[in-house]
Amino acid sequence: MQVRAAAIPESSDRKRLHVITWGCQMNVYDSARMQDVLAPLGYAPTSAPRDADMVILNTCHIREKAAEKVFSELGRLHRLQQAREQAGGRMILAVAGCVAQAEGVEILARAPYVDIVLGPQTYHRLPEMVARAARAAGTVIDTEFPAEDKFDYLPDASAPQGITAFLTVQEGCDKFCSFCVVPYTRGAEQSRPAAAVIAEARRLVAQGAREITLLGQNVNAWHGEGLDGGAWSLGRLIRALAELPGLGRLRYTTSHPRDMDAELVSAHRDVPSLMPFLHLPVQSGSDRVLAAMNRGHRVDDYLRTVDRLRTARPDLGLSSDFIVGHPGETEADFAATLALVRRVVFAQAFSFKYSPRPGTPAAAAPSQVSEPEKERRLAELQELLRAQQARFNAGCVGLDLPVLFTGAGRHPGQIAGRSPYLQPVHATGPTTLIGTEAMVRIAAALPNSLSGTLSTERACA
Ligand code: SAH
Ligand code: SF4
Ligand code: F3S
Repeated sequence: MQVRAAAIPESSDRKRLHVITWGCQMNVYDSARMQDVLAPLGYAPTSAPRDADMVILNTCHIREKAAEKVFSELGRLHRLQQAREQAGGRMILAVAGCVAQAEGVEILARAPYVDIVLGPQTYHRLPEMVARAARAAGTVIDTEFPAEDKFDYLPDASAPQGITAFLTVQEGCDKFCSFCVVPYTRGAEQSRPAAAVIAEARRLVAQGAREITLLGQNVNAWHGEGLDGGAWSLGRLIRALAELPGLGRLRYTTSHPRDMDAELVSAHRDVPSLMPFLHLPVQSGSDRVLAAMNRGHRVDDYLRTVDRLRTARPDLGLSSDFIVGHPGETEADFAATLALVRRVVFAQAFSFKYSPRPGTPAAAAPSQVSEPEKERRLAELQELLRAQQARFNAGCVGLDLPVLFTGAGRHPGQIAGRSPYLQPVHATGPTTLIGTEAMVRIAAALPNSLSGTLSTERACA
């Protein structure tokens, strides 16, 4: 990600900013927005932490391993910070994101050399925090859920994200699944108004974006103010965005099965630029476990939703998240998850061992599943999912797929991009096709990517 030179006032001192991002795509988006907020202060991105005047760790709290990484990275950065001080300089260290929100006080105790701790809802206040940190010793902490909406205060000007861009339309979660920290770290569900989303999408397209992925912790729970003043649903927003000239592809993630309404399903039927690929996490194939997880739907509901989606868009590829070893999950429950996977057939999926998170109901539940048992179930599930992904990729061989080319390939003369199903695709072709969509005849399927030849030299978008 680059900050436009024009966004940096000529008079200001050039300072270097290094951002490390963990977690979901919303954190990737947030990191870009933090860079935008700091650009007017003279901060330009650097890939080398050693050279940085400020380092931001944008963190994830979803599983224990993700949160642990923060403290080991902080130890490493502290040594760089000390070296800088010995040389008479200063390196500001900031911890942002979901670990900051959930463990702000612990960060202060374990890493008192951290200058700024800020939660996901206060990024617009970052310039003020940097000014305070620069003036004073001691940590500046802001993990409020402020009354003002950060989006009203973030700058319009943003660094170009490139050919594929993220756009946050919804934040937070009111669903309180038994295992999940997100409702605590990101707060209550909020939807941005359609006008703000469309204006941002327009800017992204003007900066070269050809594909936009709408983001939200519960993106299909989006219910924002429409252009007509009424409440719109995500399906309606997608129809409006599809009208933007130059925007070839739309995606949205992450969806909850409970919020898959008729308007959104029909958008999959009617909107050609809405890609035929959907990440729709089900977590488990057992009604008992789904109830314990507080997911608010049964296996049958999920299967019916999948059928509705496939009727609307027969070539839809599906993805999901699974958790194995939620407290109380028996062998029979796990077998039901395998059965659901066999029934649905996924194009790809993510699967995790249940990780107890402090403060969530499941962490305190009796009948925790043992670690070796979780590992065995995960290995079995992943083998099945990998086989399905390989079959899905093999099924693409011989097809002509539209590929949005985003950059050079690994080998000379190659260009690379993504299929509608998000598979990486490599083809021999001119770099002039980068930023356009072109048809590729798929010749080979590898475990995680495809390769082929351009069906036509003519770009179709
Ligand atoms: N909002 C999305 C999920 C966001 S978190 C949804 O409702 O589906 C991304 C994924 O992390 C979840 O789908 C879940 O599979 C996994 N996850 C969340 N909490 C977890 C935990 N405590 N242990 C293991 N995996 C977890
Ligand atoms: Fe977490 Fe559940 Fe909310 Fe998804 S819906 S973010 S899993 S609480
Ligand atoms: Fe992680 Fe927070 Fe995203 S916990 S998955 S960074 S919402």
